[in-house]
Amino acid sequence: MAIIWHKVFNLHGSGALARSLCRLLDVENGTFECSAFPDGETYLRIREDVDGLNIVILADLCRPDRRTLPLLLLAETLRDLGARRVVLAAPYLPYMRQDKRFNQGEGITSRYFARLLSHYFDGLVTVDPHLHRYGDLSEIYSIPTRTGHAAPLIADWIAAQVDRPILVGPDSESEQWVSAVARQADAPFTVLTKTRHGDREVSVSMPIIDRWPNHTPVLVDDIISSGHTMLETLSRLEALGLPGAVCIGIHGIFAEGADTALNKKAARLVTSNAIPHPSNAIDIAGPLAESIEMIE
Ligand code: R5P
Repeated sequence: MAIIWHKVFNLHGSGALARSLCRLLDVENGTFECSAFPDGETYLRIREDVDGLNIVILADLCRPDRRTLPLLLLAETLRDLGARRVVLAAPYLPYMRQDKRFNQGEGITSRYFARLLSHYFDGLVTVDPHLHRYGDLSEIYSIPTRTGHAAPLIADWIAAQVDRPILVGPDSESEQWVSAVARQADAPFTVLTKTRHGDREVSVSMPIIDRWPNHTPVLVDDIISSGHTMLETLSRLEALGLPGAVCIGIHGIFAEGADTALNKKAARLVTSNAIPHPSNAIDIAGPLAESIEMIE
């Protein structure tokens, strides 16, 4: 039976996304205080009665190490005050890329993070998690999970904003997103080969897109973190003498000023509001709300 949701508590999420989510779920924002004591410990106070309620915590988990502890403490406080269900809506799900032991002695942190969240929440909802070596979140999360997809919204944005697009995926992992967007936007696409030499060092193969002259390159990837994957791909396109490309990322983390570097090089930088940023142009409230409604 469908769960009746009562409140959305917004912890670090985009205000606009929280408002859309409340409207779509027909619930109100939960009121609470979250601040830090002088020594940095988290202070939390729920400002309303949550006894018996089904609650969604909307959390922006970009910069996860800083934000996860307040999130877990908020979930515990709500439960302690009588909340019946506490579900996490994390539009960007961190710790998904360390999905194997690449080097001896490393931790498979995606599994440990999943175990941690599974302990504190009754369900998890996200948008386009980085599923590379895992086929589904249920392989590592032991709670019900639902996933929303941004591809139809990205396809609509491209169809409305870009004349004759040729979509470019910078690496094999991006193929799942690029091919879905291309199909829905009725545009051609190509996928490059990426070699990662370090956190901030990547090389990508030369795009072969001369079959589509006079098209605008549109780079599509799930995550923009250091930005080097996109920057390297832009350099390749520049070397071919192609006009400025549009860069679209579902999750714009933009570590270490990556957005400044990309804004200098790209014709336009676009992200979804999964992570709040001035480049947000794609509203994922719809798929997020639908996923919440599918949690059982
Ligand atoms: C990994 O394969 C992802 O799909 C992205 O391509 C990657 O996370 C981007 O990272 P960065 O912006 O640091 O190059």
